[in-house]
Amino acid sequence: MPLMSQFAPLKNDTFLRALLRQPTDYTPLWLMRQAGRYLPEYRKTRSRAGSFMGLATNPDYATEVTLQPLERFPLDAAILFSDILTVPDAMGLGLYFADGEGPKFYRPLRDEKDVMALQTPDLGKLDYVFKAVTQIRTELNGRVPLIGFAGSPWTLACYMVEGEGSREFHTVKTMLYNRPDLMHHVLSTNAAAVAAYLNAQIDAGAQAVMIFDSWGGALADGAYQEFSLDYMRQVVSQLQREKDGVPIPAIVFTKGGGLWLEQIADIGADAVGLDWTVNLAEARARIGQRVALQGNLDPAVLFANPEQIRSEVARLLNAYGAPQAGSGHVFNLGHGISQFTPPESVAVMVEAVHEISRKLRG
Ligand code: CP3
Repeated sequence: MPLMSQFAPLKNDTFLRALLRQPTDYTPLWLMRQAGRYLPEYRKTRSRAGSFMGLATNPDYATEVTLQPLERFPLDAAILFSDILTVPDAMGLGLYFADGEGPKFYRPLRDEKDVMALQTPDLGKLDYVFKAVTQIRTELNGRVPLIGFAGSPWTLACYMVEGEGSREFHTVKTMLYNRPDLMHHVLSTNAAAVAAYLNAQIDAGAQAVMIFDSWGGALADGAYQEFSLDYMRQVVSQLQREKDGVPIPAIVFTKGGGLWLEQIADIGADAVGLDWTVNLAEARARIGQRVALQGNLDPAVLFANPEQIRSEVARLLNAYGAPQAGSGHVFNLGHGISQFTPPESVAVMVEAVHEISRKLRG
């Protein structure tokens, strides 16, 4: 029996049911980066807030932009509006967004002294995130579940050591191969921080959590397992998996992780996110009933015309097939939505997923 919660009961639990591999009437969907620059209303709020961090650190703004895509489209989940880099920011690295350049840190980890001084953050510095979670969950009023999230220890380390986004990961990979001891120190600190951060989001009202390992796919086989997967396993093993008697599913997503699917499915999460390089039918056959799958439309499909969008959606839904007892599929893109996506294309996709997946279940 669920215990009393301070929040309204959930009206649409399709997303949570699919993650837990329970039967659903249709395939639920949400989109990575569903609140963002492709929406004119997001750009408006962002200019009022002055900057990305101005948005993210103000719970009223964060709530407003989290709900924007749900006003337009009947999505089956909301995702907290924030960023994975708030955690290293709270560790003292000094996050900033130079105009049109993506995220950067004033104080990246460059040498042994920087690394050994690194500590898990005072969660009080992230209070704006937990306040936003509670406010969003309250304003959702049970419409759909709220997803909390964090970066994987490795993906955070990429930004913390490089000091910004990177193509080759020259600096962080040099540390990994030259000084694996330092790399492991960063990663175990990150793992403890991420676990505590996600648990605090769950305490504040998050109903599912997702770990974004955007750069795991940049690692060699062997290095991936040692420097990314093992630390995600540590995070997952420390998560609370139930709140007020209700399960809190966990999703892990390694972009470029298709080759390691079985190993990812074994770290204890409820669901595995897939990028668009993976064939959904093969993925389902490979993992059997161990986890639910989330994904994996190429975001570029949304630049095509409505007929093409519908046919690509149908192709994916047919590839997964009708979920049987013990399996589950959450539709999503294979990575974040592009800022150049026409919002009308999203409407076409959302309707197609709901309609075609109902038919598929007969
Ligand atoms: O999915 C959502 O709608 C929730 C919000 C969310 C954001 N970032 C908002 C954001 C989430 C889940 C993230 C995760 C994130 N952030 C990841 C992992 C997922 C992925 O995409 O691989 C990474 C690697 C980051 C780091 C980051 N933050 C980058 C590389 C950038 C610049 C990207 C860009 O498109 O310019 C950001 C900024 C950012 N985070 C934006 C948004 C909406 C764009 C900010 C803006 O200028 O308004």
